Amino acid sequence: DGAGKGWGENVTLAIEDGVAWVTLNRPDKRNAINPGIVYEMTAVMDALEGMDEAEVIVITGAGNAFSAGQDLKEYFRETEAWPPHERDKLFAMNAAWQWRRTMFYRKPTIAAVNGWCFGGAFQVLIGCDLAIAAEDATFGLSEINWGIIPAGIVTKSVSMVMSQRDAMYYIMTGETFDGRQAAEMKLVNKAVPADQLHAEVTKLAQTLKAKNQHVLRGAKTAYHHVRQMGWDQALEYLMAKADSTTFRDRTQGAAKGMSQFIDEKRYRPGLGAYDR
Ligand code: ACO
Repeated sequence: DGAGKGWGENVTLAIEDGVAWVTLNRPDKRNAINPGIVYEMTAVMDALEGMDEAEVIVITGAGNAFSAGQDLKEYFRETEAWPPHERDKLFAMNAAWQWRRTMFYRKPTIAAVNGWCFGGAFQVLIGCDLAIAAEDATFGLSEINWGIIPAGIVTKSVSMVMSQRDAMYYIMTGETFDGRQAAEMKLVNKAVPADQLHAEVTKLAQTLKAKNQHVLRGAKTAYHHVRQMGWDQALEYLMAKADSTTFRDRTQGAAKGMSQFIDEKRYRPGLGAYDR
């Protein structure tokens, strides 16, 4: 547990066979994101970056919720009385763990959406590289229902992964949809029966674990950057990024991968990863 390390109360950590299960742990409050979650998620993500025994990060929720979004009471209302710079600092820390840092995290991230997922929780969901949901999980951009627009970076996030029709529909109606629908609209990679969520996420995490971790980091970073570039810049950037990724790979993975195929005929790259 994280006692004395900065987590363990609002966020728990369990490492299973190279996979770090980070669990938002306020089930009585449907894992609504309060300042405690912000501080503990920051601490746990700091620590996980340096833990070699954690190669893939899974973010999930305790009880029947992934997260009911920002805590309206503790995150919004109660911080109104804070000195403005302290409130800004909290909001910046929240943006960091929910998307900016998660999106560019050194290790692959998977959202395991086990239940309720509202508002600010979409930032986490979309910040993660991949996502698997329980078929009966419930999603909603509920902001309109209580009189605000989906702010933070929620509207930007959904505009990157949902179609315009789906994004506008759910932003404007505040209606909910389930895990199956989330998979159909590709907001998540797939939906599985709730009792298979843990096994399915573990399987995906193990697939990622088998890859070259340094190159995975380069690949996901490149994806996010090229989406914002024109074609010519993207080509220049990707060629340079590929060279620097290979150059900085201390394991010399590409040479190994090529040799294991061409010289040793040990595997087929079209069908699986080389032995790292
Ligand atoms: N902020 C603060 N408290 C919350 C939140 C939240 N986002 N979500 C749930 N809670 C609290 C409730 O106030 C309640 O507290 P209490 O037991 O002290 O009274 C407890 O969690 C349980 O909530 P219920 O509503 O009783 O649980 P139920 O299972 O019936 O419903 C649901 C779950 C649908 C998630 C409901 O709690 C809900 O609508 N929550 C708000 C969802 C939302 O709109 N989130 C904000 C999105 S906007 C944003 O993030 C910027």
